[in-house]
Amino acid sequence: MIIVLLGPPGAGKGTQADKLAARLGIPKIATGDVLRAAVRDGTKRGLEAKSYMDRGDLVPDSVILGILQDVMTSPATKKGAILDGAVRTVPQAEGLGTMLGEIGKKVDNVLLFDVDGDELVRRLSSRTVCEGCQTPYMGRDPGSACAKCGGKLVRRKDDEPEAVRNRLNVYRIQTEPVVGWYKNNKMKVHTVDAAGTVDEVTKRALKALGK
Ligand code: AP5
Repeated sequence: MIIVLLGPPGAGKGTQADKLAARLGIPKIATGDVLRAAVRDGTKRGLEAKSYMDRGDLVPDSVILGILQDVMTSPATKKGAILDGAVRTVPQAEGLGTMLGEIGKKVDNVLLFDVDGDELVRRLSSRTVCEGCQTPYMGRDPGSACAKCGGKLVRRKDDEPEAVRNRLNVYRIQTEPVVGWYKNNKMKVHTVDAAGTVDEVTKRALKALGK
């Protein structure tokens, strides 16, 4: 099963992708995590992406479609994948659809996580993430240890107020049209209320998936 997760920055896509991956037994593919790893490793792809990411802009579609081509043709995604933030523009949605068609696959479900703007800013301004495994936390200080892997928790550069404002704007202008694109292409988009506890949101997401 291939599931596309949509939603604004801070909606909880990464948090829920981990939960759904564990529950459904398919891997989470988060383009943000792939790109941050490339930046850390200083690869060509990372060097190209860094300035876009720090500002909160989208990296070029060609970079994302290259990543999606690599992961969707890899044996790791044979049974499916949860695509976390991997589709953020209409050309990416089109490109992914074409690429999957060529290998006899398709997007099976689209989940749109919906939460109000004040809550998004609250979540992002108090988030730290593990620089190793990328697990996000609320209310834990930078420098403390990740409960999962022992890595160091850091603040993301794009969680600074100016970058957050830009990311929310970019989402509205470039990513919201993706919802309409899926609907126009006869894909049911399930809106999931992403307010409430993490477990409540997971239950709603699983229900939307018929699980
Ligand atoms: P990415 O890392 O994907 O950032 P994002 O989409 O802005 O999403 P976030 O990670 O900020 O939020 P999230 O929805 O995953 O929420 P989370 O679970 O962390 O991408 C970063 C950058 O990479 C982009 O800006 C772009 O430059 C580039 N990029 C990536 N993909 C791209 C693409 N396809 N095209 C072009 N460029 C691309 O939760 C947020 C916080 O809230 C956490 O602290 C969490 O603990 C907490 N939280 C979660 N759920 C709850 C809850 N129910 N209650 C309370 N707190 C909660």
